[in-house]
Amino acid sequence: MITPFPLDRPARLAVFASGRGTNLEALLKAFPRGNPLGEVVLVLSDNPEAPALERARGRSVEALALPWEGRRAFEARALALLWERRVDVVLLAGFMRLLSPRFVVPWYGRLLNIHPSLLPDYPGLRVHQRVLEAGERETGSTVHFVDQGMDTGPILLQGRVPVLPGDTPEVLEARLLHLEHRLYPKAVRLLLLGLAFPPPEGLLGLLGQEAARLFQGLPPREKPLYLRAWALLRVWEKEDLVGSAFLGRAGAWGRGAFLAAHLLAGDHPALRAELMGLPEEVRRRAEAVLALVESPS
Ligand code: GRF
Repeated sequence: MITPFPLDRPARLAVFASGRGTNLEALLKAFPRGNPLGEVVLVLSDNPEAPALERARGRSVEALALPWEGRRAFEARALALLWERRVDVVLLAGFMRLLSPRFVVPWYGRLLNIHPSLLPDYPGLRVHQRVLEAGERETGSTVHFVDQGMDTGPILLQGRVPVLPGDTPEVLEARLLHLEHRLYPKAVRLLLLGLAFPPPEGLLGLLGQEAARLFQGLPPREKPLYLRAWALLRVWEKEDLVGSAFLGRAGAWGRGAFLAAHLLAGDHPALRAELMGLPEEVRRRAEAVLALVESPS
């Protein structure tokens, strides 16, 4: 299955956080109890002192500390809790531990993380310091599917901010947090609506040789655009056009899918104007999806 989403009920979300929890707070606000798309039902921390736990309790969401006594013990308890609480999606938000394949493999595709750099650049720690030392003019944040590496999984969504003269790591951190508080909920909405998924297995059979090869050769940051266009064509019941759309040969539906896929990640007046010029049916379908993602219930 390419994606289990959308579900025919609100998705049950768990958030893992080790510290401050401002991303958790943004997720709690975006996915409160009773939200038809998804609701945060559980917050777990490896750190009993984490302010994140208090933030969850302040909103009457179950919040449990599983003090770190080694990876195996933590993962066994966390997996059991996720099962008991019937959790559908796990969101890492400032969770400072690496999860092993025992955890990551069964949750692949339903386990996200947010990292404050434009991955695949600057994985790991001390990101802002390294970005400044390298003299970058731009940085950003990435929501990605978690795989077995550290900050290596397929990208779901990225946001960018400039690096300005005089910036310090603290200034950059604050600028990026502001961005993340919108980016993470949006990425989760895309996932839950079935508009984002990691590259599926068996691309050759699904896309045909030429399109599969083109997709595999794309840089990691460009793949999510193609995957969103694929997702849109699925939602529009035009999945047979995906391979030719990737090659730019699927006419108005292909153009509509790529324009909308772009606009889902960030608004762009020129692309919106171009969308207006497409045939009525394509334009209507594209606008309906954009409205769904942009104005959450
Ligand atoms: C964020 O910068 C996030 O990108 C990274 O850890 C930080 C967590 O901050 N993974 P907070 O705890 O959500 O405030």
